[in-house]
Amino acid sequence: MSQLLKLNDVETHIGQYHILQGVSLEVKKGEVTVLLGRNGAGKTTTLRTIMGLNPASKGRVLFQGEEIQSLPTYKIAKKGIGYVPEDQGIFAELTVEENIRVAIQKDTEETAERMNWILNLFPDLKKFWKKPGGLLSGGQKQMLSIARAYVNDNQLLLIDEPSKGLAPIMVEKVMESILQMKNQTTIVLVEQNFMMASTIGDCFYIIDDGRTVSQGTMKQLKEDENMKRKYLGIA
Ligand SMILES: Nc1ncnc2c1ncn2[C@@H]1O[C@H](COP(=O)(O)OP(=O)(O)O)[C@@H](O)[C@H]1O
Ligand SMILES: [Mg+2]
Repeated sequence: MSQLLKLNDVETHIGQYHILQGVSLEVKKGEVTVLLGRNGAGKTTTLRTIMGLNPASKGRVLFQGEEIQSLPTYKIAKKGIGYVPEDQGIFAELTVEENIRVAIQKDTEETAERMNWILNLFPDLKKFWKKPGGLLSGGQKQMLSIARAYVNDNQLLLIDEPSKGLAPIMVEKVMESILQMKNQTTIVLVEQNFMMASTIGDCFYIIDDGRTVSQGTMKQLKEDENMKRKYLGIA
């Protein structure tokens, strides 16, 4: 399988703080790569660095072989990277439909097909089509945020803790939807819910104190009680 994204010893400063101090990872096309690690480890910052929202101060970010670490966010997005941020980033005042329409980069037949596909996956969004995004439940907002990233012809989706704050039944739904999307796109998933991470993920990286400290296949991690205890506080 070919490599889609590569981070090479990436460092990121936010203001005076040295947040990422050496993140290296590779994302293979067609796979779900899960980023794990304690709260405050640097998972969100890693996604924001890929998107150019917290640009790297050192190291390289390669997307399809091309260096993108110095590009502005809108150019990175246009290269085909969709971002589903932790706070979902939807507009409370806009309707569900408007929230999706403002996200669309190219209004083509293919976009319409993708929109249909994602709305069939999330019937709740159809139900609330003309209602303000602010009226949605947490789980529905998550679905809307995923739909906004999915409608575009992205090569890669970055999804930050989609299960956070959701009721178990919603976690199941979101997990199901990501499993469906898995056949269509490559995904980098930050996910602390180990059940979800291990069900969806093909491989993992653990980030600790702003560094990638471990990597492997999800199968290896499932069997490694030490690693789970040390970095994830589970076992
Ligand atoms: N805007 C910011 N200003 C200062 N520190 C920040 C900022 N954003 C994140 N951090 C710090 O960077 C570290 C990593 O944060 P984050 O990437 O959000 O971690 P994670 O997503 O793994 O929980 C944390 O110590 C956090 O406090
Ligand atoms: Mg985070």
